[in-house]
Amino acid sequence: MANATLAIGGAISLVLAIPIVGSLIPDVGAGSGTWSPLDQTEWKQLQASTNTPVKIHFTLKSKDAYLPEQNLPEAVWGIKTSPAKFMQERPNLYTPSGKLPYAVVTLGFTIFSPICPHLGCRYNYDAAAKIFACPCHGSQFDYDGKHIAGPAARGLDPLPLREQNGQAEVTWIRYQPTIPNRIVVSYSN
Ligand code: FES
Repeated sequence: MANATLAIGGAISLVLAIPIVGSLIPDVGAGSGTWSPLDQTEWKQLQASTNTPVKIHFTLKSKDAYLPEQNLPEAVWGIKTSPAKFMQERPNLYTPSGKLPYAVVTLGFTIFSPICPHLGCRYNYDAAAKIFACPCHGSQFDYDGKHIAGPAARGLDPLPLREQNGQAEVTWIRYQPTIPNRIVVSYSN
């Protein structure tokens, strides 16, 4: 009887746990997240760049369940890199707890969310210092998005990138700020 009670309790815990774990995994491109085409001219600038990040604009179709669909101007940051170099610079993105359910380097590029992982301000790139710098509380990140100074608890957030019929596309994901791990908050800005 005791064993049966334990087994039933375990089964109920498992059923309850599955939706919680599932909510941490972005359903990229097929469910809530949608692919948005990047500005072609700026994408070409990134392809031609050497060691300089490029800000790339696009239109985000916001699909909040409680609001009508909106087209919002947005931008992401792109860097040129390689899987080997990025793995070396951002090793925590390759650990079981830090790994994202999509490639963080695609076609030789990584795309960063423009949202500071501290408290959500927009950061800029300081070309002279060669760092991404947030104006709000002074968090700084190197070229690869690694956290190097300030209160942010993690590096910059890579976003999914793909090429479709010669067009680069990104999926917007907003992750929870302030914490070291990446938990999806929304697919709209
Ligand atoms: S929001 Fe960027 S450092 Fe606080």
